[in-house]
Amino acid sequence: MKKNTALKILNPVMGLLVINQAITGMLSESIPHEAFEILHEGGGPVLVAAVALHVFLNWNWIRATYLKKGQGQGQG
Ligand code: HEM
Repeated sequence: MKKNTALKILNPVMGLLVINQAITGMLSESIPHEAFEILHEGGGPVLVAAVALHVFLNWNWIRATYLKKGQGQGQG
């Protein structure tokens, strides 16, 4: 799969995971404990893995923009 295709799928999924994490975190006292375990405690590590994959897939941009000395911004 091409990087851009993978990111087109990964990015919205990651957005939903972030929203899920924030909402279930804030509502932890109000939702059933089993739901919290599945959604928050289960979704948390999935979100961390998604962020790691997102950074990996964008590594060329990160390197060009932040890690190459004396060349200013990369190619966007
Ligand atoms: C927007 C991000 C997040 C918010 C607002 C948030 C909020 C919270 C809150 C309020 C609790 C306490 C719930 C309670 O004791 O009633 C909690 C517990 C927990 N969170 Fe998050 N959280 C976030 C991200 C994450 C992530 C990224 C992970 C995992 C990688 C995670 C894993 C857990 C776990 C395992 C617990 C249970 C801890 C325990 O049993 O003492 N959370 N979170």
